[in-house]
Amino acid sequence: MRIGIIGAGMMGGALGRLLADAGHEVLLSSRHPEQLGERARDIGGQCGPIIQAATWGDVILLAIPFGSTEDLDMAVKDALMHKVVLDASNPIADRDGYAYDEVQEAGTGSGSWTQRRLYGVHVVKCFNTVHYEVLEKEAHREGDRIGIPVASDHDDAIETASQLVRDCGFEPVVVGKLAESKRFDPGTAVWNSSMSAPEVKAALGVE
Ligand SMILES: NC(=O)c1ccc[n+]([C@@H]2O[C@H](COP(=O)([O-])OP(=O)(O)OC[C@H]3O[C@@H](n4cnc5c(N)ncnc54)[C@H](OP(=O)(O)O)[C@@H]3O)[C@@H](O)[C@H]2O)c1
Repeated sequence: MRIGIIGAGMMGGALGRLLADAGHEVLLSSRHPEQLGERARDIGGQCGPIIQAATWGDVILLAIPFGSTEDLDMAVKDALMHKVVLDASNPIADRDGYAYDEVQEAGTGSGSWTQRRLYGVHVVKCFNTVHYEVLEKEAHREGDRIGIPVASDHDDAIETASQLVRDCGFEPVVVGKLAESKRFDPGTAVWNSSMSAPEVKAALGVE
């Protein structure tokens, strides 16, 4: 699968490497693609501008500051239409300002906020609960794997994301619709907990 990654920092880099190692084609992008050549080569992928990641990718990973999704160019948002977009971003009060406030006020989770900004896109919230160093160190571990909560309003997005989570060496835990992403946003018990999949399921009361 071709994975276009928007945001080539700690999360985009760590997930890009895991996805490339799993045999996917990866393209890293940011507002400064000219700075990404070495990192892209290192993980065995390509790099380019954000619009290229959005048009080229079969699936897109959003790994940028939470509130920045709103500011993506209209051409980028149009290119994402009907695609599965994995949203790994987290609303952080100091960084995301009013976007953080809106998530708190709406009470329908950070995934719903992103979905409202990306019309016609199949947004799935996942990978936001796990620190990038945990991604790097714990992928494909023996025994119970770390659980990655997954939520979307679109069944195809749930299916695709779950497979990509497995490909990266973790275990998906399907939580439900995007409004349920509030159950694994920052500040919840499972967020940044490194819980195994059985522990995440028990904490969230899902199968
Ligand atoms: N770090 C973690 O362990 C971790 C874990 C789970 C979730 N997250 C979430 O994942 C997201 C990325 O975190 P990170 O730690 O990877 O951040 P980071 O290392 O600071 O990287 C952010 C990336 O996004 C790009 N970017 C910044 N502002 C942008 C904008 N307005 N439009 C497009 N691209 C922009 C940056 O490149 P340019 O500035 O060159 O564009 C950079 O490539 C955040 O929402 C964070 O909360 C992080």
